Amino acid sequence: MQTQSLWEHTLTFFPQFLAALKGHASGRATVAVIGASDGKFVLPLAAAGHHVIAVEKDPFALHGGEVSLPDDTTAHALGLTDRLKRESLDDQVQVIEQDFLQADLPEARCDAVWTSCSWHYSANHHTPLADFVTRMQALVRVGGLFGAEFMMPVERRHHLIEHYTSPEKLGLHFTADWNVLLTLRTNQFTERPHIGRPHDHTHRMGLLLAARTGT
Ligand SMILES: C[S@@+](CC[C@H](N)C(=O)[O-])C[C@H]1O[C@@H](n2cnc3c(N)ncnc32)[C@H](O)[C@@H]1O
Repeated sequence: MQTQSLWEHTLTFFPQFLAALKGHASGRATVAVIGASDGKFVLPLAAAGHHVIAVEKDPFALHGGEVSLPDDTTAHALGLTDRLKRESLDDQVQVIEQDFLQADLPEARCDAVWTSCSWHYSANHHTPLADFVTRMQALVRVGGLFGAEFMMPVERRHHLIEHYTSPEKLGLHFTADWNVLLTLRTNQFTERPHIGRPHDHTHRMGLLLAARTGT
């Protein structure tokens, strides 16, 4: 669906997550989206009939506001809550406006959890990456699905920050009670300017999908 998200044009492995979700949840699933932003993934999940728990700490992403565009004009950006209302999907989405690392979320109740390029944000660097990953894992019921796409290191400084990781390193967090289903990575690619990054910039992304096999 057309969400008109600020992040609409970024590369994503979300289709691989959706395909795996079909095999791990029948019918209406409960899916937690961590770092939900303005809803690029929340809206299609809700439109597909799923119940979504959307965790996001940025008030601008949730409630919208004025944005400066690269051509020096401004525009009003809608936030997640307005987008949900506009599509009449607000009944299906529980928005949690909190830092995921502090949020009190129900354990082992979700059929799936998904995040897209969230844990590399500098606000998360004060705790080990393991904290973020373990908290995500804890949300997933036995038989459920974990999905994360994430930034891999590109610049020199990234190699000093463990939150820019690789499928191999991330896989080390998935031990006895997890079965890693799929890992993928891109080559380096150039992304067009978007909010917060006014110029072309280079990324490299990884994906890890895993199923929970035990408690
Ligand atoms: C790169 S954006 C998401 C872009 C993505 N392509 C999309 O769906 O819209 C990552 C989001 O994660 C959020 N985020 C990062 N760390 C977080 C945390 N600890 N708690 C809640 N949200 C977080 C950021 O505020 C940001 O909105």
